[in-house]
Amino acid sequence: MDRIFSGVQPTGNLHLGNYLGAIRNWVSLQDRFECLFCVVDMHAITTWQEPAALAASTREVAAAMMAAGIDPGRHIIFNQSQVPGHAELAWIFNCVARMGWLNRMTQFKEKAGKNRENASVGLFAYPNLMAADILLYKGTHVPVGEDQKQHLELTRDIAQKFNNDFGVDFFPIVEPLIFGSATRVMSLRDGTAKMSKSDASDYSRINMTDDADAIARKIRKAKTDPHPLPASTDAFDGRPEAANLMGIFAALADTPVEDVCGRFAGQPFSTFKQELADLALATLAPMQDEMRRLMADPSHVDGVLRDGAARARGLAEPVLREVQDIVGFLRP
Ligand code: TYM
Repeated sequence: MDRIFSGVQPTGNLHLGNYLGAIRNWVSLQDRFECLFCVVDMHAITTWQEPAALAASTREVAAAMMAAGIDPGRHIIFNQSQVPGHAELAWIFNCVARMGWLNRMTQFKEKAGKNRENASVGLFAYPNLMAADILLYKGTHVPVGEDQKQHLELTRDIAQKFNNDFGVDFFPIVEPLIFGSATRVMSLRDGTAKMSKSDASDYSRINMTDDADAIARKIRKAKTDPHPLPASTDAFDGRPEAANLMGIFAALADTPVEDVCGRFAGQPFSTFKQELADLALATLAPMQDEMRRLMADPSHVDGVLRDGAARARGLAEPVLREVQDIVGFLRP
């Protein structure tokens, strides 16, 4: 059975990139796959998280998944820390993956910045935990945004090396699913930088919890260039802001970017931005209402997470037992 695994970090500021690049795509996969969607709180603490904010954000991400249309009756929504197998398998993968592989990870370089000596060991080993997340359930397909591609290549390398080292055909080689017109949503302040939870400027992103005023204001203030909008995507070269805003429009409207170019060709950004703001509001408002409704009932959200973790543990346990046998851990 093909199985989907994907995750989101509960580090606050869930944004439009997370929604359009990942969560929204998950909704469309529910009919074809058995799915696990994970709030990766153990990944979150690779950088400092204030404990109360981490717990609140964990609920919020779970609520966002449900509000977007993930059905926790048919699929599993849970938080990573509640299934101990993630940490157990990650340790084994720490011993499979090579330092050189992790040294090449661009996300570590970006996040650690100049002060590598002061980065947590967890931040360095982060991709091994991610491989464990997926392979603990023998996940076969992983829907993510463009920025996770390198981590998934590492997941494939780890699975392959484990299989080779132990002479087994045990872990599947996962397939990344990177699709839609918003695989890399860029900052509203700089069309060459990724929209990110950690950007210091709140004007760089649309948060899933932003109200109508904030969304309209951020789009109005979004960086543009002085030219009218292009007639085709061929003219996006050297115009990253136009490419980004038109890509966001296309994703929200669920139409090809070429159609958006056709519709707005030659028009000024001001007209387009008004329409983009209206569309963003119309698309996001129902989900935001549902998120607020869910957040008003934290015990319901907690119940979904608890039930999801129990089901996830049930799937993980036989895999872990087999891994222990393969590695030679005595189970007396
Ligand atoms: P995270 O929490 O940074 O992001 C969650 C998802 O959102 C996507 N995404 C974007 N897509 C388009 N444009 C953007 N600007 C943008 N920013 C984020 C990400 O690609 C991701 O799909 N390491 C992962 C979490 C994780 C995971 C996993 C994912 C942990 N274990 C196992 C898949 C499978 C992360 O930090 O995502």
